[in-house]
Amino acid sequence: MHNKKYSIIANWKMYFSFNQAISWLTINKESLKDLPQKDVSLILCPSFESLSTCKTLIAESSILLGAQDCSEHESGPFTGQVCAQSLQEIGCCYCIIGHSETYENWDVYQERILKKITLLIQHKVIPILCFGENKQEHEHKKTESTITKQMTLLCSTLKENKTTKALFAYEPRWAIGSGNIPANNDLEKALKVAKMIATSYDIDATMLYGGSVSSETIIELKKITLLNGFLLGKASTDFQELKKVVSLLNE
Ligand code: PGA
Repeated sequence: MHNKKYSIIANWKMYFSFNQAISWLTINKESLKDLPQKDVSLILCPSFESLSTCKTLIAESSILLGAQDCSEHESGPFTGQVCAQSLQEIGCCYCIIGHSETYENWDVYQERILKKITLLIQHKVIPILCFGENKQEHEHKKTESTITKQMTLLCSTLKENKTTKALFAYEPRWAIGSGNIPANNDLEKALKVAKMIATSYDIDATMLYGGSVSSETIIELKKITLLNGFLLGKASTDFQELKKVVSLLNE
């Protein structure tokens, strides 16, 4: 028996409509109570319109609620956006920031990421900070320099906001939804770089991995000692699959 603690982020993306999300939770209501295990906590991130109802439906379980993104603005004329304050009011404990499906180019997007982090911290929502190289950077062996650039920016923003409370999710863009995961060696190398930067900012970073995590890939991924959790996309929409991943981690 291990005593490592894991966090699982179930990022439902836009796989479910409002009714579909509600019926998933209603059908699995009883089993959901037993889903988080002693050493595995679960954070459910449905899309915005379902957050409030999902919060009610998971109330009897120890599952926590997270959002998939938030606006970089506090309030004002921003059609279609959702502010950090609403996330706090709804009862979100977490919010994913900088997921690669929310932007095209990190360099253009980075200023917005920073503003989002600051607002979340002000509203006591813990950011789940995504970072990782894209396919081109991966192929040109720029993984380390990309991670260094991104982690430096994320950690310095946390520092400026006088907090170390965040989860870090290494998400190589090319691995998301592809069925391919990095070799354990490469993953360890990338995580070491990220950890080292966090440590230089006095941040004891909790590291997660995201990108094609499933009940099959988790067996290899679990061997990586630097990891304390996983961000699941597609696999988290299948209850049996999610349950399998949790129980494999709990073994
Ligand atoms: P996936 O998504 O599990 O469907 O690959 C993961 C992610 O977006 O991080």
